[in-house]
Amino acid sequence: MTLLKISKMGHPVLRQVAALVPDPTMPEIRELVENMVETMTEAGGTGIAAPQVFESKRIFTFFVSEERAKAEAERLRISPEDESGVPLTVLVNPEIDFIGDQVDEGWEGCLSIPGLMGIVPRHRSIRYRGFGLDGKLIEREASGFHARVVQHEYDHLDGVLYTERMTDIKSLIFSSEVGYQKPDE
Ligand code: NI
Repeated sequence: MTLLKISKMGHPVLRQVAALVPDPTMPEIRELVENMVETMTEAGGTGIAAPQVFESKRIFTFFVSEERAKAEAERLRISPEDESGVPLTVLVNPEIDFIGDQVDEGWEGCLSIPGLMGIVPRHRSIRYRGFGLDGKLIEREASGFHARVVQHEYDHLDGVLYTERMTDIKSLIFSSEVGYQKPDE
């Protein structure tokens, strides 16, 4: 496996609408995804989309720990039973539908915008589908942090960064300073 270079905000590849993948089972797609997972893990990311490694393809991968999912469920006061961790997931050619109108604010960071964090509104609940590397359809409902991660990664496929979703640019801060923020209530 190979660690890939991560594209940074300002590079045009992060502004492109990524191309559909004709066949998720192609060996070169598997190799790309394996390298994306390695790169994401090494960089300490929760998710990574193919444009972030200079591949303008509709693919992303993510992982949500149970601890993180539960913490977010408690913060949002949604039932913790609805929030469990999500195993490493690869989605090729994903699609998202929003469920309901509930929108929550939460902190996000991005491997393409290193060192910064911002508060971003996202839909609380979504339904998503996409193909795994075996060509099988994956369909899930998600809420809370899981839904946030999927919306963030999906945006990368349409050339959108989280900073454009922010409603108050004053919350864009260095992650080292996040401790100075008042706990959100
Ligand atoms: Ni990102």
